[in-house]
Amino acid sequence: MQPIALPIVEGKYNLKNYEEAYKTFDWSEVEKEFTWYETGKVNMAYEAIDKHCETHRKNKVALYYSDANRDEQYTFLDLKRLSNKFANILKELGIVKGDRVFIFMPRSPELYTAALGTIKTGAILGPLFEAFMREAVKDRLADSEAVAIVTTPELLARIPISELPTLKHIILVGDADENDQGHISYQDEMSRASDQFEIEWVDREDGLVLHYTSGSTGKPKGVLHVHNAMIQQYQTAKWVLDLQEEDVYWCTADPGWVTGTAAGMFGPWLNGASNVVRGGRFSPDDWYQTIEKFNVTIWYSAPTAFRMLMGAGDESVKKYNLSTLRHVLSVGEPLNPEVVHWGLRVFEKRIHDTWWMTETGAQTICNYPCMEIKPGSMGKPVPGIIAAIVDDEGNELPPNRMGNLAIKQGWPSMMRQIWNSPEKYDEYFQTKGWYVSGDSAFMDEDGYFWFQGRIDDVIMTAGERVGPFEIESKLIEHPAIAEAGVIGKPDAARGEIIKAFIALRNGYDATDDLLEEIRNFVKTGLAAHAAPREIEVKEKLPKTRSGKIMRRVLKAWELGLATGDLSTLED
Ligand code: WTA
Repeated sequence: MQPIALPIVEGKYNLKNYEEAYKTFDWSEVEKEFTWYETGKVNMAYEAIDKHCETHRKNKVALYYSDANRDEQYTFLDLKRLSNKFANILKELGIVKGDRVFIFMPRSPELYTAALGTIKTGAILGPLFEAFMREAVKDRLADSEAVAIVTTPELLARIPISELPTLKHIILVGDADENDQGHISYQDEMSRASDQFEIEWVDREDGLVLHYTSGSTGKPKGVLHVHNAMIQQYQTAKWVLDLQEEDVYWCTADPGWVTGTAAGMFGPWLNGASNVVRGGRFSPDDWYQTIEKFNVTIWYSAPTAFRMLMGAGDESVKKYNLSTLRHVLSVGEPLNPEVVHWGLRVFEKRIHDTWWMTETGAQTICNYPCMEIKPGSMGKPVPGIIAAIVDDEGNELPPNRMGNLAIKQGWPSMMRQIWNSPEKYDEYFQTKGWYVSGDSAFMDEDGYFWFQGRIDDVIMTAGERVGPFEIESKLIEHPAIAEAGVIGKPDAARGEIIKAFIALRNGYDATDDLLEEIRNFVKTGLAAHAAPREIEVKEKLPKTRSGKIMRRVLKAWELGLATGDLSTLED
């Protein structure tokens, strides 16, 4: 698809002139916002919650929570008091600064309370997706030597307590039965704990949150972020999310994923924003209802969700009043141009793609409300960030050449450790001062970055380098296709051939005619060499919990190889 620049929509944005800010901005400008500027010490939970209780925001709603059974709201003062209580529970258990405390439960006010309370004690927060099974839970708790976990009676069976010698405390949220004797009851302890707590003031380089993320090989790795990340999380929430005082912000991500902490808790609360959290599973009606019910103005989601909404059809969107929406964003995988055009049509809003990684700790390359969007492009680096396309030696490549997407080392929210694995950490920083992301991309002559694939996903077919994303985007423009994942399959003649895995929309059958039509569709729409030689139809594609199509799983299926670590696989 040819890039069409989508014009800027007029508005009073926090970031008014991208080029200007890019030239002049310095991160040190943000440091004045936080306590360490005066005291040398800081704490994320203070900056995100308690601080606002000393201002007009004290009784502002910090959290709107709803699910099928609950509908609640909490002010900044409520969250301050509740998290103080939880911090007191941990303190009485002997939890101290630097201890790893995990939270393994569905999204709920208790999850956010426990997360903030944990941070107040100076402990490192380890958030886990509720869907993790026993092996995945064990790997993470063992690697990090977690001392405590907050979970629910339903999930308790997935924690192999006897195999985790360091795990001393289990705090259960919800009605425990007789099997759960010996564990700590969240409700009982909260009802007696004091709501006053002396925050543990930490250094800005002390550990804050440990996110386990899967690489292409081996066990998941624990990416450690420190309190200093607040500089970038605060500033990008201002510029990229464009949070302003009156906004109601909904980030659909679970805190098990970096998006759910950095952009779902820290960034918005550092800015004193009202945050919506919707519990339960995804359904189009439910999501549209959430926007309508809370008058959401800023909505941050992921391509996989947008594609599912798109698949649900225009009828469902038309049932709801979504007119409060003013800013829509996406992260996690490439945002197909088709989805951007759909967003324009049904929401009358541009969907702003943002690129970042667990390792970058905050948004890094983005589209801003004050900037033209080229559908399919991830945008431009956040002011203060230097990004480039480099070759394998770390030399910068000229525009329009595909290479390694790299970030100049030293951005504020950069990961500070891979837990227990300094060697692995160092591997990222070997190339002339660049952090090499593992993504391949190119930058066009206007400075926009275009994602091409993970390095190991790039397909080399008959001498042509082809990014799988481009083909996937084309495929899902076809009316029969709901989802597509593309891999290179080794081939004696061509190096690799392109193989597409697709899931069809309701009402379509996988006939030979249809597959031939799809092949031609790519051939005529994109390029002959980009047309998949093989197409396999699947019920659904393997995806991570954060919505990324797992091409390495498709590839492993295809080649009959082991799939590697699957703990982040959805269902
Ligand atoms: C991919 C997510 C294309 C990319 C916050 C990156 C994207 C990995 C985009 C990090 C985007 C993320 N366009 N690809 N806008 N955003 N990715 O650690 O391959 O879950 O390296 O962090 O997701 O995923 P992670």
